[in-house]
Amino acid sequence: MRPHAPHSPTRRRYGRWAGAATAALLTLALAAPASSHSAKDPTTHAYEVTGPRTAAQRTVIARTGVAIDAVRDRSVVITADAAQAERVRQLGYSVRELPGPPDRSGGRTATPFDFPPEDAKYHNYAEATAEIDADVAAHPNLMSKQVIGKSYEGRDIVAVKVTNNATRTTPTGAAKPEVLFTHHQHAREHLTVEMALYLLKEFGTQYGKDARVTKMLDSRVVWIVPDLNPDGGEYDIATGSYRSWRKNRQPNAGSNSRGTDLNRNWDYKWGCCGGSSGSPGSETYRGRAAESAPEVKVVADFVRSRVVGGKQQIKAAIDFHTYSELVLWPFGWTYDDTAPGMTQDDRDAFATVGKSMAASNGYKPEQSSDLYITDGSIDDWLWGTQKVFAYTFEMYPDESGAGGGFYPPDEVIDRETARNREAVLQLLENADCMYRSIGKAAQYCS
Ligand code: ARG
Ligand code: ZN
Repeated sequence: MRPHAPHSPTRRRYGRWAGAATAALLTLALAAPASSHSAKDPTTHAYEVTGPRTAAQRTVIARTGVAIDAVRDRSVVITADAAQAERVRQLGYSVRELPGPPDRSGGRTATPFDFPPEDAKYHNYAEATAEIDADVAAHPNLMSKQVIGKSYEGRDIVAVKVTNNATRTTPTGAAKPEVLFTHHQHAREHLTVEMALYLLKEFGTQYGKDARVTKMLDSRVVWIVPDLNPDGGEYDIATGSYRSWRKNRQPNAGSNSRGTDLNRNWDYKWGCCGGSSGSPGSETYRGRAAESAPEVKVVADFVRSRVVGGKQQIKAAIDFHTYSELVLWPFGWTYDDTAPGMTQDDRDAFATVGKSMAASNGYKPEQSSDLYITDGSIDDWLWGTQKVFAYTFEMYPDESGAGGGFYPPDEVIDRETARNREAVLQLLENADCMYRSIGKAAQYCS
């Protein structure tokens, strides 16, 4: 796809800057990625860690500050710098460095702020924005776009509302239940933005044609936030080849390392339980305070704004990630199935709908802490504070190591986004009463 000028907050603030300055910025970005990536920022690699078999063992590994990217029967794949990898080795595991991100250039020169030529079907920020705007323009009665806030570097964070605007209530006269889809908390998980674009296309083109889609958009309000981490996503492709970046791009006072792990920065049991790191250099840095990442604050404020008449209108949610092909539900902060704020019935409804969705897409369903402990994650916050039935989907590929990890080739986009169509419809259909799935509608939903 054609190169786009890099979005830059500097350019935004000094709009009079012309092409020459842009060209200079481009050159800088290309020649010296260190310009926004301090020389002391330790380089991270993927490693295979052989030995750990239990969630408790994996949590000990996660506590060193590395990100666990894939969980296998007796090993994990982590992202770490050399010092962190050494700490994992000292736990007694064998640690082997894996190859870096794939070269998808096809031997051609890279274009800054764009996907490598062989992955041109992925959408960078400008392309995704254009696509979203085109969908909204094509279906003005069905979709509207709101800018709900800005990223650290000043990019728009957007929510697209999808619903038949002519119907204000469900057939029973109740307000329409709302369902939230969030995407791209982690920079390198680009397939999740494609998932958002797929949903917009599918809803736009199938409304009035497909009976289930039509019924859902008549009786639900869908909110799609296609990109929670635009700065990280653009940084990941800023040189024209992949960098395996995970966090946002916020500087950290007193440190050369940039970035907060957005999925450790939500304001529920933040930093409680050894499921995140207090070190800015860590891949799972939780930030200096809950909601210290502007991107998290923006989306949390948006979710809180959906409390109408004292009632949270959003009933269910999926936060899309890659990779491992999993359907996860809360809590992540505890291994326990039930906990304060999670009754047996809550847990059973989560698991029943979760397993049904997983049966439709072939993912593996489990509680998120079956992997390892996390704290400050979006799904724990959405459930723990808003009582939103919030799932995390880890999309294609599976954990095996085949399939390209965070960088599956663009040939798989159509198949792997459409793969979640049925699961998304199931969640929409259950959203009015998640407890119906366990036969307790009368008790909870009348
Ligand atoms: N891999 C994702 C992460 O590290 C999800 C981990 C599962 N935990 C959760 N609470 N969803 O953020
Ligand atoms: Zn992720």
